[in-house]
Amino acid sequence: MKILIFGRKGQVGSALMALLADQHEVRGLDQEDLDLAESDEVETTIVAYAPDWVINASAYTAVDKAQSEAALADAINHLAPAAMAKACADLNCGLLHYSTDYVFDGTADRPYLETHEPNPQSVYGSTKLAGEQAVMQEYPRAIILRTAWVYAQQGANFMNTMLRLAGEREELGVVADQFGSPTLAYDLAQVSVSIIENTALESLGDVAGIYHATGSGMTSWHGFAREIFSLAGKTVKLNAISTEDYPTPAPRPHYSVLSNEKLQRVFGVALPAWQESLAGTIENL
Ligand SMILES: NC(=O)c1ccc[n+]([C@@H]2O[C@H](COP(=O)([O-])OP(=O)(O)OC[C@H]3O[C@@H](n4cnc5c(N)ncnc54)[C@H](OP(=O)(O)O)[C@@H]3O)[C@@H](O)[C@H]2O)c1
Repeated sequence: MKILIFGRKGQVGSALMALLADQHEVRGLDQEDLDLAESDEVETTIVAYAPDWVINASAYTAVDKAQSEAALADAINHLAPAAMAKACADLNCGLLHYSTDYVFDGTADRPYLETHEPNPQSVYGSTKLAGEQAVMQEYPRAIILRTAWVYAQQGANFMNTMLRLAGEREELGVVADQFGSPTLAYDLAQVSVSIIENTALESLGDVAGIYHATGSGMTSWHGFAREIFSLAGKTVKLNAISTEDYPTPAPRPHYSVLSNEKLQRVFGVALPAWQESLAGTIENL
């Protein structure tokens, strides 16, 4: 298949590039190739390449910075995916797009289903929700995977921040009252590859829509940090703190665990337990 990947250098995008390059004709784009903030070239680029699938792993992911860069975040997270969806509708090709647990307000006490009403509390969450809605409106045959707490061996992510801080400090406070599911970018990429390789373009209409796709299980940021330090053999003293003790420009949902039941039921795939993926990642460091 001919596959066009946006965000080829990101956490998920680089895992997709690595997984797909051998078996398919893959073209990857990043900001240096095409700046999505200038979205007037997005449609023509896609139509000219005429892929079987477009995978959009690009995004404005700086959650706190987005609070003061709303127009830029909207251009990348909303307007650019809308343009991608328009081009895919013209070509009638596959479109796989990613979204976030931050579309929810976090007031639930059980895993969110795809049918739960979104209510984003941050600019990042609002622009990602606008992106989801525009994608589905422009191209109802698209597939959207909402994920959460993404980390990879490389990249600016919670695991790497914790490992760096463990080398710099003897004691650390980490938020213990926000709950979610750590997701290894490679696991999400594997599930994505399985979806596109096993979905015939003629039957896209049967499976289109939003799916939740995260690492299995749940924890808090404090629990995630504890597991990172334990697996990496770090002896830093870890204190549990509350959200109020660690104010951030963008509010985070207190609870954003996503039910992956629909993903498993429709596509027959699931991501491994988050602890298992973290152990493998730290072993490889
Ligand atoms: N990271 C998380 O914790 C998290 C949580 C929930 C959902 N998600 C979603 O999962 C998907 C993948 O996230 P990720 O963690 O892999 O993201 P990431 O590592 O931050 O990568 C984002 C990619 O988008 C590209 N990009 C940013 N601005 C661009 C622009 N103006 N023009 C073109 N490309 C641009 C980046 O390119 P440069 O490197 O050149 O800037 C990078 O390749 C995204 O849809 C994200 O919203 C992520």
